[in-house]
Amino acid sequence: DWTPESIITQAVERVRTQAGGQRVLTAVSGGVDSSVATALAHRAVGEQLTAVFVDNGLLRMGEREQVRAAFEGTLGPRLVVVDAADTFLRALRGVTEPEAKRRIIGETFIRVFEHEARKLGEVPFLVQGTIYPDVVESSAPDRNKAARIKTHHNVGGLPEGLTFRLIEPLRYLFKDEVRAVGQALGLPAGLIWRQPFPGPGLAVRCLGEVTAERLEILRQADAVFTDELGRAGMLNQKEREAGGIAQAFAVLLPVYSVGVMGDQRTYHETAALRAVTTEDFMTADWARLPYELLARVSSRIVNEVKGVNRVVYDVTSKPPATIEWE
Ligand code: XMP
Repeated sequence: DWTPESIITQAVERVRTQAGGQRVLTAVSGGVDSSVATALAHRAVGEQLTAVFVDNGLLRMGEREQVRAAFEGTLGPRLVVVDAADTFLRALRGVTEPEAKRRIIGETFIRVFEHEARKLGEVPFLVQGTIYPDVVESSAPDRNKAARIKTHHNVGGLPEGLTFRLIEPLRYLFKDEVRAVGQALGLPAGLIWRQPFPGPGLAVRCLGEVTAERLEILRQADAVFTDELGRAGMLNQKEREAGGIAQAFAVLLPVYSVGVMGDQRTYHETAALRAVTTEDFMTADWARLPYELLARVSSRIVNEVKGVNRVVYDVTSKPPATIEWE
C-alpha cells in the first residue's frame, strides 16, 4: 500500500544514491511530470540541483511567471530562466507546415538547452519526468506508431553530444500518483492540475505563420476562454475527475472575414474554441458546453481581443479529428 510520503521517501533515497555527491540538471517545462520530478530531485539532492526553464515564446498567458513562482522559492538562483523567444520565432519565420513547425521547435529546444547546459560546466546527471505509462508505451513500438500520428517533442529529449546519465524519479508512478506526490511536496494546485500542453506550445495552435503579433492575439483569446471556464467551475479537479473537460483552448485561424463593430467594417482573423472530454487522449469527444458560456466567451473575445472578429466552436470528435489542430 502506498502513500505519497512513502513514495517520496523511496524516490528521494534512490535519487540520492544515484547522484552521489554530484551535480544534477533538470529541465522544467511547467508540465506536471517535469515539475514533480524536479521537486523530488530537489528534495533529494538540494543544492546539487540546477533547473533550466526555456521560455520559447510559445507559452500561454502568465505561464512563465507561474513556473517561476513555483520554483523560485526553493531553487533561488539555481533556477535558470532562458528567454529564447526571439530564437524560436526567428527559426519559425515563414513556416506554416505543422510537422515542420514541430521539427524546428524540437531542434531549437535542443540547441538552446545544450548551450545553457554547457555554461553550467560539468553536470553528469539529467532528471527526466518519465512516468510509468511512458515506459510501457515506448516498449510497445507498434501500438505507439499506430497511435502517434504527430511528432511529439517533449522536454527531456536528450541533447545530442551531451552525455548525461538519467535520473527518472517518476519511472514507477501513474499519473494520479504523480499528482499526489506533487501535492505532498507542496507544488501549487494550478501546476498539479494543469491541462496537458503540447511541447511545441502555441505554435501548433497558431495556424499559418507564427509571429509575435499573432501569438499575442491567440494568448489573449485563450485566456478569455480559460477565464470563463474557470469562473463556471469547469476546470477544477473535481470536475476533471468526474469526466468533465480534460482540455480546452483557443486556436487562431488565418481566415479573414468581414464583420462590423459600431459602424466600422472590420476584416480580421478567426478564433476557434476547442474543448474535449476524454479518458486517455487517444479518443475524445467535443464538450457540450452551455450556450450561455459560449456566448459570453465569443462576445468577450470579439470585444477584448484586437485582431479577432469571429469565433467558432469545434464540434469534431477524435477520431476523425485530433485534439490539437496541428
Ligand atoms: P492529438 O492532437 O494528437 O493530441 O489528439 C493528443 C494529446 O497530446 C497532446 N499533444 C502533445 N503533447 N507533446 C506533448 O507532450 C506534443 O508534441 C504534443 N502534441 C499534442 C495534446 O495536447 C493532447 O492532449
